[in-house]
Amino acid sequence: MRVLGIETSCDETGVAVCERAPDGRIRLLAHQLFSQVDLHAAYGGVVPELASRDHVRRLVPLIRATLDESDAAPGAIDAVAYTAGPGLMGALMVGAGVAAGLAYAWGVPAMPVHHMEGHLLAPLLEDDPPQMPFLALLVSGGHSMLVQVDGIGRYTTLGDTLDDAAGEAFDKTASLLGLAYPGGPRLAALAEQGDATRFAFPRPMIDRPGLDFSFSGLKTAVMLAVRDARDADGTLPAQTAADIAAGFQAAVVDTLVARSLKALKQTGLVRLVVAGGVGANRELRARLAAEVAKRGGAVYYPRPAFCTDNGAMIALAGVCRISGASAGLPQILARPRWKLDELTPPASH
Ligand code: KG4
Ligand code: ZN
Repeated sequence: MRVLGIETSCDETGVAVCERAPDGRIRLLAHQLFSQVDLHAAYGGVVPELASRDHVRRLVPLIRATLDESDAAPGAIDAVAYTAGPGLMGALMVGAGVAAGLAYAWGVPAMPVHHMEGHLLAPLLEDDPPQMPFLALLVSGGHSMLVQVDGIGRYTTLGDTLDDAAGEAFDKTASLLGLAYPGGPRLAALAEQGDATRFAFPRPMIDRPGLDFSFSGLKTAVMLAVRDARDADGTLPAQTAADIAAGFQAAVVDTLVARSLKALKQTGLVRLVVAGGVGANRELRARLAAEVAKRGGAVYYPRPAFCTDNGAMIALAGVCRISGASAGLPQILARPRWKLDELTPPASH
């Protein structure tokens, strides 16, 4: 079973081909990505209309390149999976429209995929994939969630963010420190030169009941620290910026680690999957690996390239769900808002 996957929910155009081999293993045959980061950098964030137009320009050539790389003739594709949401409406429509058109032309099913399902299944592409059930910490530019995963399409959200997502907090703090967009990875790099103990930032929600997150208080604390640390001429000394970055990162990592450990304890689960762009953060990875191992559990990640948005995770989700898919007149589905808990298992699960 071979599935072409298409991701266009935000500012990355991602295309991949995955298959389920006769031995049941899922294999990635090809993947291609075009990142629009440079296009949006001048605006300090993603400009939705520019994103849609660039997906229009890039998507079809990228599909051609991916099919060439996979050596799969169009006739060898059994379904076309595409991100149907959540995401930017115009950007989603590009992927959905192209996917539906190809599926109709090839006489195969078009499969709408939930973007966050793609993220949380992404570690299944690795050599030592996690068995279900597991707990997933999904931390991206749009989400900070803890999800109990009992099977494909059997998801229970245990915690969500009350305000900013973890990646959003990274990006906003980076911008306060004068770092270019996208700030998350730049802030993480700056933090490596900083002293995390110089600024004692709050650990949001760490002692509160429940499993939700909130990062707006931390954001305010950083804003005040930046304001107070500026020289008379308004510049922020380089070492102070690094110390603030390190203090901020430590506060976010402490919060994410504490919430994840609490959720593992509460559910009795022993496997933790970390996915989404912030999952690429090295400090977070090191701390989680150490703390979860101490408690006899294990942490699973996608490879760094598949932590951020990509087509491989969408092709993979398509392979996992193909038993429930049928050909016919394909649906062009685009849902900017879409709750993960609304998903159901594919027909044969
Ligand atoms: O999953 P993703 O590619 O896109 C969304 O669906 O949002 O996540 C992007 C987010 C951005 O906020 C980016 O700054 C953050 O992930 N990010 C990081 C790192 N790499 C990416 N945040 C902290 N440390 C990193 N190393
Ligand atoms: Zn994402």
